[in-house]
Amino acid sequence: MHSGTGTPAVLTQDPVVIVGAGHSGVAVAAGLRARGWKGGILLIDAEQELPYERPPLSKELLKDGASDDSAVLRKQKFYADKGIERLAGVAAESIDRDGRAVLLSDGTRQVYHRLVIATGSRARPLTVPGAGLPGVRSLRTRADALELKRLLVPGTRVAIIGAGYIGLEVAAAAAAKGCEVTVLEFQDRVMSRVTSAPVSRHFEQLHGRHGVRFVFGAAVTSIDGVKRAEGVTVADGTAFPADVVLAGIGVLPNQELAADAGLECRDGILVDGDGRTTDPAIYASGDVTRFTSPIDGASQRLECIQNALAQADSVAAHITGQAAAEPEVPWFWTVQHGVRLQTAGVRHPEDQVIVRGEPAGGKFSVVYLRDGSLAAVDTIANLTDFRTAKRLIAQGARIDPVLAEDPAIPLAEAISGTPNHPDADLAAARS
Ligand code: APR
Repeated sequence: MHSGTGTPAVLTQDPVVIVGAGHSGVAVAAGLRARGWKGGILLIDAEQELPYERPPLSKELLKDGASDDSAVLRKQKFYADKGIERLAGVAAESIDRDGRAVLLSDGTRQVYHRLVIATGSRARPLTVPGAGLPGVRSLRTRADALELKRLLVPGTRVAIIGAGYIGLEVAAAAAAKGCEVTVLEFQDRVMSRVTSAPVSRHFEQLHGRHGVRFVFGAAVTSIDGVKRAEGVTVADGTAFPADVVLAGIGVLPNQELAADAGLECRDGILVDGDGRTTDPAIYASGDVTRFTSPIDGASQRLECIQNALAQADSVAAHITGQAAAEPEVPWFWTVQHGVRLQTAGVRHPEDQVIVRGEPAGGKFSVVYLRDGSLAAVDTIANLTDFRTAKRLIAQGARIDPVLAEDPAIPLAEAISGTPNHPDADLAAARS
């Protein structure tokens, strides 16, 4: 183990092997070099093309007139300049923990000094009869997005299963292209996993104004069609004709490589605050991990870029014997019909919900309190609340719900029990 922040010496001839070249895997490679790692770095990437950003795949890339070239995470030159070797189009198939080696799909065996599993997640597959018919799509890779884009032509009847980020972003893109869009959602409102009813309602109305139709409580029982998908049937027998069906029903962590090697997994590879798995020579980073939140102690698997980058930094820091940067509060965003929802923190369904501002005005926030402390905030057209909330959540700030409800009072001034605060007397009187 190295100490201090100086450039570490090379401990071994064997490289750090990183499996997966999404946001997290690429950030581990870059972070190792930035932190002075002099040994080899081998990035194993199941996809052929240069590693790319995922958020545009369900947004900008689907738009008419948008370039098919989605943003690359790093240019080709970066990998060459930094001595990061990329094995493209090759998958890691198993780990020989005793031999400290990974076995690859091209039949080779790659010995590692440290192994980093950054395999991310995959779209949860639809399993009803007919799900394999042509015309039934999911959206996770650039290839998926380009294929979907080709199918979304004016007049196409699109049935979207699942009203999460993916389903709703695609619904917006498809409606803008003149498709006839029906969203079939199992729950009784949109984005129920990530947000509260007031935000769901706001986005449902927004989509409604753009012609998107919703069916809630819809349990899909089959995809119908002979040679290709022609419609979707739900549990009460109603059939919805469709030319294209998109399943946006969540993701599954790509944890099999770790689980098969005997590493502890529970809906995600279990890691500690340094990104270490239950094998000290193996780390994991990004969407594929499950860990204890440093903020509230909850066990969580986060699907967001902030976490992918923060964990990558922890892993690179630990491998080089340095201190990691302070983790940022997790944050998330989606854009639908040009309206941006930015969320700071992770809401729990049992949190107290405070609507701040008038949704009909198009600018509002929803504040989530857990035992009186700020746990999360959803913001629509309110960057100030978003930024303030990130800071306050990290501080574990306690918030006065009555003050927080008033959009004229800055969120930072809604902290309860601040003795010198001008509203402290008022807050005390109200509580
Ligand atoms: N029928 C109808 N709806 C379903 C079904 C089903 N069989 N199964 C799941 N759903 C609904 C869920 O109720 C949920 O509202 O699908 C929605 C899936 O939403 P998310 O879990 O948010 O997943 P998704 O939209 O696929 O996004 C996955 O991609 O945008 C990235 O990282 C981001 O976390 C996000 C991930």
